[in-house]
Amino acid sequence: QKSEAWSALFSEPMSDLVKRYTASVFFDKRLWQADIAGSLAHAAMLAKQGVISATDLADIRRGMEQIRNEIASGAFEWKLDLEDVHLNIEARLTQLVGDAGKRLHTGRSRNDQVATDVRLWLRGEIDLIADLLVGLQKALVGIAEKNVDVVLPGFTHLQVAQPVSFGHHMLAYVEMFARDHERMLDVRRRVNRLPLGAAALAGTTYPLDRESVARELGMEGVCQNSLDAVSDRDFAIEFAAAASLVMVHVSRFSEELILWMSQNFGFIRIADRFTTGSSIMPQKKNPDVPELARGKTGRVVGHLMGLITLMKGQPLAYNKDNQEDKEPLFDTVDTLKDTLRIFAEMIDGITVQPQAMEQAALKGYATATDLADYLVKKGLPFRDAHETVAHAVKAALSHNCDLSELPLAVLQQFHPAIGKDVYDALSLRGSLNARNTLGGTAPAQVRAQIARHKQRLAG
Ligand code: ARG
Repeated sequence: QKSEAWSALFSEPMSDLVKRYTASVFFDKRLWQADIAGSLAHAAMLAKQGVISATDLADIRRGMEQIRNEIASGAFEWKLDLEDVHLNIEARLTQLVGDAGKRLHTGRSRNDQVATDVRLWLRGEIDLIADLLVGLQKALVGIAEKNVDVVLPGFTHLQVAQPVSFGHHMLAYVEMFARDHERMLDVRRRVNRLPLGAAALAGTTYPLDRESVARELGMEGVCQNSLDAVSDRDFAIEFAAAASLVMVHVSRFSEELILWMSQNFGFIRIADRFTTGSSIMPQKKNPDVPELARGKTGRVVGHLMGLITLMKGQPLAYNKDNQEDKEPLFDTVDTLKDTLRIFAEMIDGITVQPQAMEQAALKGYATATDLADYLVKKGLPFRDAHETVAHAVKAALSHNCDLSELPLAVLQQFHPAIGKDVYDALSLRGSLNARNTLGGTAPAQVRAQIARHKQRLAG
């Protein structure tokens, strides 16, 4: 093969530096299963179409079986000289079965081959990621279910806003990961199309049956334009975008966990096995796992930028630039899978501290809106009620107490319509129960959502 020079056309061999620079085998070897599957489907079709003989097909199958075993057992010798996963496998096949191996590449180019391999591999990874997204949602629904009645201060601008159920807060993330799951499955449809048969760029002179190869490989159809088939990496970019959004959601969640864990909040503890100590400060337990997830989000978003930039100046059709799609894609998949796994485990190890959350909600006048709503129900226009409550909050601030701790006589100074029943409205639980609209934080609503999610995620 090309250990010295590519072919008779070349007058000198590559330098070691150029070999290393142009080779991809040490990362693209992870495509080996897809490469063999694609080759077997291609060979079967070539035989069916009479392009190669049944004996050739049998030889190719036998050789590939052996190669599979060699790679799986670690016995396969990957050679930098053979540039990439495709040439390594094909060269070994020819070593094992002779001419049949040399016939495999009939009507095919590495251009349509690599695009096929990446798509097949990515399809499998998307299925794993989709399962992990389901697992993460289940963990979140689990912790939500245990904490429907735990009251957390809800924030806007990171200022205490209104009380919310801790379960409700967890379900907000379930919504995000449910959309991520949907997005992954949507991307999968466009990943799962067959470039093979486009050959180098223009199609091929052999009577290929591309549709049958697509069916054999479980793909949803063939890429309809040969130029686009070999040069399209939209599917990789879409995946990286969907992955980036997953990481953005993980990162937002991480940020909250980190805050909640800090002594100044004290809302949760996470199990020690997800934290680390400090080499100098003996008292420390640091939330390394969520911090790293937040950090790794930058890396995944960076891969999206890398891929999108990789494509922007490429003329049709295939260019070697495209070899650069692999490392970002592989690292995105690895980072995403580890992160989703570790989060599902970590959520099971969260202990909530209901008193700290309630104390924090009481400190920030979280029920001020409820007092305004109470006055509206007594006939005040909302804007007037809003202003009245601002005065009441000012008074409570100067007494350094919660609204619910102001005596009735004091409250009545702000408006005579205020009666004893105001204290129901001013309690955290009263406030929660009152928000009983669809999607609201009332425990009844949260329980209904949990039931919906459980049904959706079952099976
Ligand atoms: N290793 C190459 C890649 O990843 C395979 C395709 C090479 N094609 C070519 N014409 N050099 O893109």
